[in-house]
Amino acid sequence: MKKADFTKELLRWNKKENTRSMPWKGEKDPYRIWLSEIILQQTRVEQGWAYYERFIAAFPDVRSLAAAPENKVFKLWEGLGYYNRCRNLIETARRISGEYGGVFPAAYEDIRALKGIGPYTAAAIASFAFGLPHAVVDGNVERVLSRYFGISTPVDTAAGKAFYASLAAALLDRTAPGIYNQAIMDFGALVCKPQQPLCQACVQRKDCQAYLGQMVSSLPVKKKSLDRKTRWFYYYIVNTQAGVFIRQRQTRDIWQHLYEFPLVENTQPLDPAQIRDAFPGRPLFAPNNIRIREVSPPCKQQLTHQTIQGQFIHVELKGPVANWEGYQLVPRHQLGQYPFPRLITSYLSSQAPLLP
Ligand code: ADE
Repeated sequence: MKKADFTKELLRWNKKENTRSMPWKGEKDPYRIWLSEIILQQTRVEQGWAYYERFIAAFPDVRSLAAAPENKVFKLWEGLGYYNRCRNLIETARRISGEYGGVFPAAYEDIRALKGIGPYTAAAIASFAFGLPHAVVDGNVERVLSRYFGISTPVDTAAGKAFYASLAAALLDRTAPGIYNQAIMDFGALVCKPQQPLCQACVQRKDCQAYLGQMVSSLPVKKKSLDRKTRWFYYYIVNTQAGVFIRQRQTRDIWQHLYEFPLVENTQPLDPAQIRDAFPGRPLFAPNNIRIREVSPPCKQQLTHQTIQGQFIHVELKGPVANWEGYQLVPRHQLGQYPFPRLITSYLSSQAPLLP
């Protein structure tokens, strides 16, 4: 087992057996590569594919993305989650358009310095678009290397990260870094998969330490399985003759700048009386004008580090509608024009049109 053998076998597999086809594969335009890599940061290829194609159709180059109204970009991103990716996309497109005259920077350090671009994405852009010798290291790559070389250093530690980064750099084929990087990603996705890897058909099997030592399912090692926390979100859909109240979320989190209904967030579930009492419009609207008409069953969204349990409370508001600071009153039929977090869009699409 030599480092050179790994690279040679990987490239041979890539040439002979890798039939994976994706719209960004072989792409040389750094803008398109950047877009695809940002989409794929926290999204599966199957899901990201259509988003990528819609983005390219709407914004064929960095200037058109930079010039687009933000809401249009967020609307196209809707459903992908982790909206800070979308915010950074807009910010970086504008910076390239202004500072770099619309031409994507071609040096690794300049690419790495752009907002939203970490070492992984910078290496992908630098190698795919400019043929620069930077190795990508992501979960796929760490898994392949930890198995092949039988490394049990936890991947989620500083020491582990540094170790995998230097090993990956040493394995890179410096004559064709883009091809090598795409090959190792494809190999991790198609053969050396997290669950049920295809060891019987694997070209690396004869030298794979995990396979030889029957450790495939226990590698890579993670120091801590992620500690997941649960949050309870209570969204109040306040129905008036003129429409429903929504606001743009300002909290600096993954939903910043998306829209939402009046929300009460809690670390514990609330019982029905607490849900009624917690209605945030209470001081503003006369108590006998407020009627809670329906509370939805809980809807769950699983994120990487947290579980969101959401419930939707349909509130009917009678009498004159006061101005609710921070909120806008939107006619029900226009709700579809606003970008919402997935929990809300899923709920709305599962509902009959909201009644007045
Ligand atoms: N995940 C992240 N980047 C990727 C790419 N270029 N191809 C396949 N999967 C990826």
